[in-house]
Amino acid sequence: CRAVVLISGSGTNLQAFLDAAAREDCDYTVAAVISNKADAYGLTRAQNAGVATEVLSHRDFSDRDSFDQAMAKLIDTYQPDLIILAGFMRILTPDFVRHYSGRMLNIHPSLLPKYQGLHTHQRALDAGDSEHGATVHFVTEELDGGPPVLQAAVPIEAGDTAETLAQRVQVQEHEIYPLVATWFAQGRLKMAGDRAELDGELL
Ligand code: GRF
Repeated sequence: CRAVVLISGSGTNLQAFLDAAAREDCDYTVAAVISNKADAYGLTRAQNAGVATEVLSHRDFSDRDSFDQAMAKLIDTYQPDLIILAGFMRILTPDFVRHYSGRMLNIHPSLLPKYQGLHTHQRALDAGDSEHGATVHFVTEELDGGPPVLQAAVPIEAGDTAETLAQRVQVQEHEIYPLVATWFAQGRLKMAGDRAELDGELL
């Protein structure tokens, strides 16, 4: 299974994929890492792992459609089976999402359907929640609304800030996201309408 990872920033989730893919028994390879930001640290992580990198800046395009079309064209030169969004901070056009339907995953830092969108850690704190977490899901046209595959929950502790909570969540992200990619690569995970299906069972 060939995966292309899209990033915009630090790339700690990307690092988890690169580390997993470096192991001999891994079921997927990272064919390329593409960033819409030239200064994303994740590009350095990819280069250190000997993985191809590309930068495609949304600022070079007049609208979302033309950027997404160029992005899809670039992605497809790597002939990926799986597209992994790992902190890719762009809203995707419906055409782009449809093109990769059933083979594009995202990780969102909340226990979806709670807290779609931004600032999830602060929102969980402000709401007085006792737990928080992350969700891996298939990407559909609804932002942060596609079929969930796997969630990890963490406790919210007294004195937590958005930063300490984000760190606790990220440890879990780095576990669950590569695991889901492995399921996909093994042919065990599919999108079935508005649900995900693992080993033939609806999730
Ligand atoms: C993660 O918190 C992820 O849940 C969200 O974006 C962040 C990416 O972090 N989608 P990193 O670049 O992988 O460190």
